Amino acid sequence: MNTDISKKLFYRAKGLMPGGVNSPVRAFNAVGRTPLFIKSAEGSRIYDEDGNSLIDYVCSWGPGILGHSRPEVIKAVQKACEYGLSYGAPTKKESELAEMIISAVPAIEMLRMVSSGTEAVMSAVRAVRGFTGRDLIIKFTGCYHGHSDGLLVKSGSGLMTNAVPDSAGVPKGFTDNTLVADYNSKESVQALFDKYPDKIAGILVEPVAANMGVVPPEDGFLKFLRDITEKNGAMLIFDEVITGFRLSLGGACQYFGIRPDMVTLGKIVGGGMPLGVYGGRREIMECVSPLGRVYQAGTLSGNPIAVTAGIETLKILMDDTGIYDRIDKKASELEQALSSTGLVRVNRAGSLLSAFFTKEAVSDYKSAVLSDTAMYSKYFTHMLESGIYTAPSQFEAMFVSDAHTDEDIKITKEAIISFK
Ligand SMILES: Cc1ncc(COP(=O)(O)O)c(C=O)c1O
Repeated sequence: MNTDISKKLFYRAKGLMPGGVNSPVRAFNAVGRTPLFIKSAEGSRIYDEDGNSLIDYVCSWGPGILGHSRPEVIKAVQKACEYGLSYGAPTKKESELAEMIISAVPAIEMLRMVSSGTEAVMSAVRAVRGFTGRDLIIKFTGCYHGHSDGLLVKSGSGLMTNAVPDSAGVPKGFTDNTLVADYNSKESVQALFDKYPDKIAGILVEPVAANMGVVPPEDGFLKFLRDITEKNGAMLIFDEVITGFRLSLGGACQYFGIRPDMVTLGKIVGGGMPLGVYGGRREIMECVSPLGRVYQAGTLSGNPIAVTAGIETLKILMDDTGIYDRIDKKASELEQALSSTGLVRVNRAGSLLSAFFTKEAVSDYKSAVLSDTAMYSKYFTHMLESGIYTAPSQFEAMFVSDAHTDEDIKITKEAIISFK
């Protein structure tokens, strides 16, 4: 595969942006390669500047559940552009989108639109702290919730310690109110509630962890989180930035039958445009300014173009209810092909999956990081050379879209099976 033009563009970009990119994983560091520079995308495929055409399983890291450049969405966005790009004032389309979201996700009774998943989660945490009057938040090792200071943490020396910043530039004090537990470990959560009675504002969780590779919750884990928060006057926040509108129309809440107090959305809800949402119980959201004392604002929040892309995307998902079965079936075929190699352990939830190069089951961060990342890099290169674009890191999800054709799946399965 010739990537000369991408290489030249990367050389230029490296002098202009840190690592040549605007988000670190795009630099391909984890797979020891240089990134492809993308020129366009349509359906299941992306096209790079060198003219390579690839079947895309990154799907912009999740938004592309319908594939790329779905004509109805593009047309609506083009039309919306003719009316102006931003007003900084309310529009009726915001209420239209809000009604669609609320009808799909009953746990959301009231919501606020923002411009990214990071903002959505940061603001949801603030709302929950404001509502409860408590400071401590529990998050899980290996879960990612965007790059706000207080959530950029890893586990300390033991579970009972407060978190340590995972990034330079985050003052120690900024993560003092973040507690870290182990994903799928009820005991680690229980221990924190035992240690800090009446002090924990809430638990923040990816209902299917997808940022250490895909790690589904074990049976009863989410129900346990619901019960323990309820028992202790703490709030349960589902970070559905990835799972929202992906596992089902009602996201993980519907998929697992759990009603959290708050939900955050991003990615699919903006149909490929910058849009995030946080929402939940009315009395929590009524704490948000200008109604309440929890401040949160945004110049471009509820941007009319992003809202239009969101409305059109959700309309398609609501009208064509067969989509979820179709993408589940395609992902299951890929899961079987991956498992048949005998080289990986595959985790899957609906159309999200990860193949871990390890012999042991992966149920948390500790087991995920046992994966052989050098083997993943080899696999990544093999897939790329076979015309398939997968995540440039072992610890990311493979996203299946409704645009992946039977032929795409067949080609992908053949490539998987031929990997040695
Ligand atoms: C679960 C989860 N929450 C929050 C975020 C942050 O979203 P954004 O990158 O839009 O800021 C991400 C990003 O991948 C995510 O996966």
